[in-house]
Amino acid sequence: MKYLKRLILNLVDRFGYAVLHKNALRDLRQPPQPAEQPAQPVEPPPQQAEVEPIPAPTRTDQGAEVDTQSCTSHSPENAIKVDPRIDFELPPLVDYSDARAAFVDIAETPEFQRIVQFFGENSPRSLLPPAAQAHLYVATRVLKPEVVVEIGSYHGGTAETFARALVANRSGQIHTVAPHEGAMVRANIAAWPEAMRERVVFHEMNSAEFFAGLGQSGQTAQIFLIDGNHDFDFVAFDLFCAARCSASNALVFADNISQPGVYWAGKLFLRDNPEWSSFGLPARAEPPSELYDLHRSTIAGTEFLVLMGPRNIVLQPGRCYAPVVRRVTYQSVRGLRFRVGSVAAPRRLHLQIVLRATATLEERLGSARVVIQPGVPEQTVILDRELTVGPVTTGAVFVEYLMILDDGVPEPIVLLEEPEIQVGGGTGPHR
Ligand SMILES: C[S@@+](CC[C@H](N)C(=O)[O-])C[C@H]1O[C@@H](n2cnc3c(N)ncnc32)[C@H](O)[C@@H]1O
Repeated sequence: MKYLKRLILNLVDRFGYAVLHKNALRDLRQPPQPAEQPAQPVEPPPQQAEVEPIPAPTRTDQGAEVDTQSCTSHSPENAIKVDPRIDFELPPLVDYSDARAAFVDIAETPEFQRIVQFFGENSPRSLLPPAAQAHLYVATRVLKPEVVVEIGSYHGGTAETFARALVANRSGQIHTVAPHEGAMVRANIAAWPEAMRERVVFHEMNSAEFFAGLGQSGQTAQIFLIDGNHDFDFVAFDLFCAARCSASNALVFADNISQPGVYWAGKLFLRDNPEWSSFGLPARAEPPSELYDLHRSTIAGTEFLVLMGPRNIVLQPGRCYAPVVRRVTYQSVRGLRFRVGSVAAPRRLHLQIVLRATATLEERLGSARVVIQPGVPEQTVILDRELTVGPVTTGAVFVEYLMILDDGVPEPIVLLEEPEIQVGGGTGPHR
């Protein structure tokens, strides 16, 4: 019966989340309810899984205690059973710099197969197949991220998978985001073992709202699962935002590339971000004949496209590099300091900084142009004028900078670290 359900769900997944009424999916995924009990979502205890602002990532060095019994939600009639096991033997030497080894060869190992089996038997709340969950689990265990972002919570099933791995790592947080199904997500999270609950933050909002907050907070994530609205425009937005908020060598899993919206958004992303690499798309997947393809991913048992971020920020010639808008505490800016990788010939770079104050509705723009010479990695670029807003006693101040490298030479330039804003008025540098 369980496998029949999973088969139906896989078919549902493959033919598109959007074309079926969400409640149909919800009903299939729910454990059987007693006849006299309507399938009401359970209200959570007030302290758990509230909508929260994005907290600063924290590292927990003490070992997290894990309940030894399966946990249930606080309402016995709607209780879900959550297996408390968190720690599984990992396949040997998983290395994400070799994508084929990490996503294909790994599948042959008995360790990976045991993890797949666990998720097959214990994760009915996720829409992702067991192999996909096993990849997320292993990547999280191996890469030990401090921040994981999942766009698209559904019933919290994949968040549960990430949380298992984070508890085993004894560090990191999963931020799971969805504008719908809030009561169900909170109720299910309330039934997790406490150590797993401590690893999750549920954001009951859409991805646009979430990414704006994440960007302003200055935090980056090492692993993303993009599994929200599968329409092209939404997926493209989520992928571009993930890239802007990504840490060095981040992994972005996009589901489901059988669907044209996700597939084409992935292709658009890669065309615009050539410094990112990808895994999961077969060589034959080329336009214009590609619409739905139920067997598109080369990662067995999944519908994943995996995008792998660069180690450093890369400036592509002729393309605007615009990192996220940051909320700041200063009111004056005079320039930007950054370090570049080696260049073979002089390269011209255009820079703009914008400082805005919401209370006074001020917007100040400054520009600069710099020629980067071979052998001079350190650059401190001072604007044509110092930018000052305020005095600001209410509202917020935001800063953003934009860079464009002249496109006369096709090679990109690497920034060796995140640039530092040079604060005006005699105060120190800020990122
Ligand atoms: C395919 S389901 C996610 C499945 C989930 N990852 C799992 O397997 O456990 C899609 C989810 O995306 C959410 N969603 C829809 N539009 C969204 C948006 N604009 N931003 C974030 N989440 C969205 C839906 O509410 C739903 O929870």
